[in-house]
Amino acid sequence: MNNVLYLTSELFPLIKTGGLADVAGSLPPALTKLGQEMRILLPAYPEVMRWIKQPTLLASGSYYNQEVRLFETHLPESGVITWLVHCPAAFDRPGGPYIDGNGEPWHDNALRFAIFCLVAVDIALNRLNLNWQPDIVHGNDWQSGLVPALLQLHQSRPATLFTIHNLAYQGLFDYQTFLDLNLPARLWHPDGLEFYGQLSFIKGGLAFADRINTVSPTYAREILQPEFGYGLEGLLRHRRDRLSGILNGIDSKVWNPQNDKYLQAPYGIQNLQQKSINKTRLQQQLGLPVDAGVPLIGMISRLVEQKGLEIILQGMADLLAMPAQLIIVGTGDIHYELQLTEWASRHPEQLKVIIGYNEPLSHRLEAASDLFLMPSSFEPCGLNQIYSLRYGTLPVVRNVGGLADTVVDANTRTIKNGTANGFVIPTQTSADLLATLQRALELYLQTDTWQQLQITAMGSDYSWNASAEHYRALYHQAMADRDNTARQSGRFL
Ligand code: ADP
Ligand code: GLC
Repeated sequence: MNNVLYLTSELFPLIKTGGLADVAGSLPPALTKLGQEMRILLPAYPEVMRWIKQPTLLASGSYYNQEVRLFETHLPESGVITWLVHCPAAFDRPGGPYIDGNGEPWHDNALRFAIFCLVAVDIALNRLNLNWQPDIVHGNDWQSGLVPALLQLHQSRPATLFTIHNLAYQGLFDYQTFLDLNLPARLWHPDGLEFYGQLSFIKGGLAFADRINTVSPTYAREILQPEFGYGLEGLLRHRRDRLSGILNGIDSKVWNPQNDKYLQAPYGIQNLQQKSINKTRLQQQLGLPVDAGVPLIGMISRLVEQKGLEIILQGMADLLAMPAQLIIVGTGDIHYELQLTEWASRHPEQLKVIIGYNEPLSHRLEAASDLFLMPSSFEPCGLNQIYSLRYGTLPVVRNVGGLADTVVDANTRTIKNGTANGFVIPTQTSADLLATLQRALELYLQTDTWQQLQITAMGSDYSWNASAEHYRALYHQAMADRDNTARQSGRFL
């Protein structure tokens, strides 16, 4: 059994902007079942404090002259112990965890997450007298990147694992910020936190963690190439013996079409015909022509370039010429929101665009749709295509990252051998997007084959069982690597 401190900047159901929250809300409970003693560390945003009834005060201190208190609570449902970094100056404000009301990054993000990291370091080194010390510190994304960098400066320390959920977000700030944060001068180095003259939070994880992983095997290979590496491919290649990919699992209780609290007509493989009731109800609710026979394409996404918005918008006129309905739920870049809304206002019979973050609707749309659109230009793992598979909603995806690891394109061979479960767009162009959708709509008319694909999709195991085992093994490797490094550098353990 290991003690694991799991660092995350979002956590479902307390605060969520994307897939990291889902992973943080479901992997630690799965690891707990495998005997790991987990503690989650999360900033105490106002949304989080609203969820928590009676937090217990564990410790208090001052970081960068800001008052910080550490509270303890439990993750709803699973009960995993969750520690909240309560620093009103950094986290108690309206807006998102990373951006303000205008969609701009908070001006003091470096300070906010440096505070978060310093608290993690103090817990890791047992400086807060919590009567609990981790064997492993497991960081996620740039917001926890300083932790491995700071911990490796100490002789006796926990092992570190750093998980990359998205290399495109790196936490880059100017040199003055490095000075203002009073970080150790020896970390300012191209092999350290410096990235072409800037301070890079994510490099702290990539350069110094005992082990690094990403959230799918394919993305772990892709980020070694310039196309996906965002300038970090050289460092990652240098550390490739420490890098691996573990496919995300899903919370199979929250995302279960047989037992989904948001669905009007729950269904499974045994009563698949019920699925279309969800379609007609949603058509009714959103004011689309009610027709169980018309194929419905759904999309739920952050509206950012990564998610393939460019090729969707370029192909929108042709897409709307197809005999299908399209519903898009999302929020993100304002220019995408405006363009999509504009298209919807001109085609109200075929296209609905709902701008905003809407959890119940995301479940209803997964259940209602026949096809799920996810033409991402890169996708570290992607959870929505996995939710879609579980809901018998065939994904239409690019063959990148976790999409390539989960979706098997329907062609003569894969249909025959029973592995087909979706459709793969060969290149990032609207021509290929449209051709793939066309192919999918033709197959939709072959009811028996379509149903076979749905059953293949719904019948696979997407739970955390296998992947949580891989994380447990990785924790052991991280500890062994730390010990080897210490031995090589002549340090005592
Ligand atoms: P990413 O983390 O890159 O956004 P993922 O597919 O891993 O992509 O995870 C996205 C998660 O966020 C899914 O659970 C998805 O349902 C959810 N999501 C994204 N946008 C919305 C939205 N507008 N409303 C509700 N849920 C959303
Ligand atoms: C990131 C990635 C997404 C992944 C999620 C959870 O947000 O963009 O592909 O599924 O993290 O790991």
